[in-house]
Amino acid sequence: MKNIILIGFMGVGKGSVAREVIKHSDYIAVDTDDLIESMENKSVKKIFEEDGEGYFRKLELDVALWLESSVKNTLISTGGGFYKQKNLKKIGTIVLLDSPFEKIIKRIKNHPNAMRKLKKRPLLADLKKAEELYRERRPEYLSLADIVIDVTKKSAIECSNELLKKVKKHA
Ligand code: S3P
Repeated sequence: MKNIILIGFMGVGKGSVAREVIKHSDYIAVDTDDLIESMENKSVKKIFEEDGEGYFRKLELDVALWLESSVKNTLISTGGGFYKQKNLKKIGTIVLLDSPFEKIIKRIKNHPNAMRKLKKRPLLADLKKAEELYRERRPEYLSLADIVIDVTKKSAIECSNELLKKVKKHA
């Protein structure tokens, strides 16, 4: 089994879909932000505040190299900026979770933990800037993806089923 790399904008639902995929398949899962937090013993938010975004991106590079050399049969969910890693294609099949910006923000705001979700993401602090980032990144996400899943109006389970079907076809 080739690794699956889940990419997509902050809040699109990568974590929720990953949880469903592991329930319904033999994949195990890792999350690049979780790996970074345990490497540094610090939250992503704290790393941004205390060490800066540049340092965080360097940690993403370390994680990308490790994933390429050491990880197999795994569903890798990634932070929204992880797709910039040059070796992404070598790590596995790239699956984009796609949705319009407005729908992503609505999804976060409707979540029972909305405040926490917004607070832990430094790049969502200013919604205007976040939208610019979305507009800049979306074409890049689309051009990298082997598989695109439009998550709008779908539950995490529906997205997970679609993902597993499309990955099987793609293999
Ligand atoms: C980032 C997304 C975040 C996290 C960091 C930077 C980004 O992950 O990696 O705050 O550049 O889009 P999520 O996509 O899980 O929110």
